[in-house]
Amino acid sequence: APSDPDLVARAAAAKAKLGSKVFVLGHHYQRDEVIQFADVTGDSFKLAREAAARPDAEYIVFCGVHFMAESADILTTSAQRVILPDLAAGCSMADMAVLGQVEAAWDTLTELGIAGDTVPVTYMNSSADIKGFVGRNGGVVCTSSNAKRALDWAFEQGSKVLFLPDQHLGRNTAVLEMGLSLDDCVLYDPHKPGGGLTPEQLRDAKMILWRGHCSVHGRFTLESVNDVRERVPGVNVLVHPECRHEVVTAADYVGSTEYIIKTIEAAPAGSAWALGTELNLVRRLALAHPDKQVMFLDKAVCYCSTMNRIDLPHLVWALEELVAGRVANQITVDADTAHHARVALDQMLALPG
Ligand code: 13P
Ligand code: SF4
Repeated sequence: APSDPDLVARAAAAKAKLGSKVFVLGHHYQRDEVIQFADVTGDSFKLAREAAARPDAEYIVFCGVHFMAESADILTTSAQRVILPDLAAGCSMADMAVLGQVEAAWDTLTELGIAGDTVPVTYMNSSADIKGFVGRNGGVVCTSSNAKRALDWAFEQGSKVLFLPDQHLGRNTAVLEMGLSLDDCVLYDPHKPGGGLTPEQLRDAKMILWRGHCSVHGRFTLESVNDVRERVPGVNVLVHPECRHEVVTAADYVGSTEYIIKTIEAAPAGSAWALGTELNLVRRLALAHPDKQVMFLDKAVCYCSTMNRIDLPHLVWALEELVAGRVANQITVDADTAHHARVALDQMLALPG
């Protein structure tokens, strides 16, 4: 639906009044009505870098989800304020790894004498607490665009990786990009004692994958891929690495949201593409490339409901509060957590390549 013209005018007026004091970041999965006001759009890696590169902006309005705003707070100066227009914009995947559970898992590895050989790696899609844990224990943050580089680095530091919280990104990267086998990976279930694994399984594993997943990408199935290939002969299947292993294996291309966008931009006119990623992004790409056939991999999968919580009314409200001199919905990470999380984030930003 087109945006309410009154709200569009109010957002534009508030942004104009704030001028260079405000910088609006928009993740690619945000609604069109919000994306039109983003000063920069990107995947989570690009947005983390953009936040760090804007020391002059007093207010960073983050149109994305909670963990991204936390990372922006960690990477910006203490004078800058990071605002999330709706505090209910969380991430179900990030919520699947809670600090107490991860500490319990680490205790198990310590008791088995293998924590010293294990490097914790956490996907950007995790709370600041988890990033802090990883920083305290010599690990690194990764995103979907640098997971292989992060794992290469981690396996130089130790012989095992504890990968949090997305089992699919961990498994897909290890098996499809690093040449590990499925048998090198075990799945640690935080709801079971010892993760539901035997000491031998934990000792033998190279990749200990946390049992977390994305509630959007995890819904694409092998049938989605087979069906689209039948319906659209010659279609290219391009999916995000948060999809299940069998989906990624059956696809033609795999990559982060930035990679997906670049691939569609570079694709020849007339080519057909089925995309296994979030619907707001797929719809925008289809509209921007009418000379190509860009479609959603599975019609049963829909928007990320928490990304979609950031809508134009929330953005207008957050901006107008700033105009009125009030800072609403500020996201802050406590200094100790931020310090250790920053170590793990800086380690990511320093990865070679
Ligand atoms: P990227 O932005 O790293 O591609 O991650 C996708 C995602 O699910 C963000 O929430
Ligand atoms: Fe979290 Fe998935 Fe939504 Fe990204 S798309 S915010 S990983 S639930």
